Amino acid sequence: MNFSLPKLDYQKSALAPIMSEETLDLHHGKHHQTYITNLNNFIKDTEMSKMSLEEIIISSAKDKSKTGVFNNASQHWNHIMFWKCMKPNGGGTMPEKLKKRINADFGSVDEFKKQFIQAGITQFGSGWCWLSLDNGKLVVSKTPNAENTLIKNMKPILACDLWEHSYYVDYRNRRPEYLENFFEKLINWEFVESNLD
Ligand code: FE2
Repeated sequence: MNFSLPKLDYQKSALAPIMSEETLDLHHGKHHQTYITNLNNFIKDTEMSKMSLEEIIISSAKDKSKTGVFNNASQHWNHIMFWKCMKPNGGGTMPEKLKKRINADFGSVDEFKKQFIQAGITQFGSGWCWLSLDNGKLVVSKTPNAENTLIKNMKPILACDLWEHSYYVDYRNRRPEYLENFFEKLINWEFVESNLD
């Protein structure tokens, strides 16, 4: 399979000023595209070219000789997820079903938010923070570099990119401010809820 860059569901200017057009130009058009180009080069004429993206991620994660494949495949998957987790005028009130599940597993939306932002702040260096289903229970976690929670047998339902390329243009070194804005003004909660099923 040859992978290609997915179109965004919104205009690149539509998330401004929370996330600028310049950031999306670079992040979607350059960084994400580069992961896809690298991935296609890595798997060309190999058995992995017949696998789905998820199969490539799971199998390369277990194989130390496939780190290059894993990093680029996982970053491709993570970015597809990340773009869908945002929408123009996002954030705000969660849909009822998701809110009930968050309340059941974290006690409150505020507690969930606190844990999610704390995970994002405390990830040292590049990585991701996640809300995932772990055996049916919602959990917050963070992962370094290209890793995600798929390889930990969880189902990721919300992803936030913590690489500097995601926020440096708009927030410089202020990752906590980026995380707060992502949570309150960008998250597409309907998409997150749809991943519960
Ligand atoms: Fe990224």
